[in-house]
Amino acid sequence: MTLQALLGVELPVIQAPMAGAHVSALAIAAGQAGGLGSLPCAMLGTSAIRREIGAIRAAMPSRPFNLNFFCHRPPVADAAREAAWRSVLAPYYREFGLDISSAPALPARYPFDATSAELVEELRPEVVSFHYGLPDEPLLQRVRATGAHVLSSATTVEEALWLERQGVAAVIAQGLEAGGHRGHFLREDLTLHSGTFALVPQLVRALRTPVIAAGGIADRAGVEAALRLGAAMVQVGTAYLCCPETTTTPLLRRTLMSDAARHTALTRLITGRPARGIVNRLMREVDDASAPEFPLATAAIAPLRAAAEARGSLDFSPIWCGQNASGCRERPAGELTRELAGV
Ligand SMILES: Cc1cc2nc3c(=O)[nH]c(=O)nc-3n(C[C@H](O)[C@H](O)[C@H](O)COP(=O)(O)O)c2cc1C
Repeated sequence: MTLQALLGVELPVIQAPMAGAHVSALAIAAGQAGGLGSLPCAMLGTSAIRREIGAIRAAMPSRPFNLNFFCHRPPVADAAREAAWRSVLAPYYREFGLDISSAPALPARYPFDATSAELVEELRPEVVSFHYGLPDEPLLQRVRATGAHVLSSATTVEEALWLERQGVAAVIAQGLEAGGHRGHFLREDLTLHSGTFALVPQLVRALRTPVIAAGGIADRAGVEAALRLGAAMVQVGTAYLCCPETTTTPLLRRTLMSDAARHTALTRLITGRPARGIVNRLMREVDDASAPEFPLATAAIAPLRAAAEARGSLDFSPIWCGQNASGCRERPAGELTRELAGV
């Protein structure tokens, strides 16, 4: 059986879950067009997840969708590191007339836990995808017991083989071009990561499990190329970011559609884990090594981000974006999904 048939979708396109950039409307639009829509849960509380899934089920009761979770280990607070981080940011706080002691201490990114497992048992998404590996076996077993097809991202052959041994339905090959957080979980060394064109064929050769290509795919030709390399499906993120069904702001959209999007880089500064985004002032001026562990970096950045955005600037914002933003246009997500699939 093909992966598409297993997941129950007509088109080989998965709309990538993008925490902070959308909720159910994008998943519905991609799903109604015949792709697999995804709901990212990393920044949503339980009641919001329940509400958004309710909207998805009401809009497309007989179509599958993907519920996505981060599964990082909750960080151990390190007061000395946090203090050093705040002192690095102090000059910027002064510039904006902000009080650094008022910065929140909340991590703001939730890992998959027992409450998430209960939600999966109750709401029964057809597909559950994870970023940063997989949850511990007892929690994963609860997901499997619901009948959900489990997916997770790999950035190396080693990670893909590890995921295959855990019995995932498919491995998402996340190439270095991809926007947002790198999904690595076995090693921290980013020099091990490769581009989508290098990663997909190596995974196809090494695995018996189907491979989903992600990273830098923004149009029909990119989808065809990935399928030609042996991918069973593709997962596309960046190209959806300017669709009206997202929650991205007009300022962010303008930036994604501007020449600035030609310069992206990996940074740990916003959250504490490497993620690809458009280079901004924070990334140019602050040393990547100063950020505390994921997701603790987020808290002290948040007030700066809010103050800068109030002045119409993304100098301190996460501008997550892949290396190929050429697909970013203000067009309905259903249209983009069909275009990617060539229908
Ligand atoms: C704004 C943004 C947010 C993202 N958030 C998530 C997320 O919450 N969960 C996840 O599994 N992947 C996330 N990703 C990564 C995507 O799943 C995928 O790997 C990536 O978008 C593919 O590359 P592309 O952006 O070049 O299409 C995010 C990507 C972007 C651009």
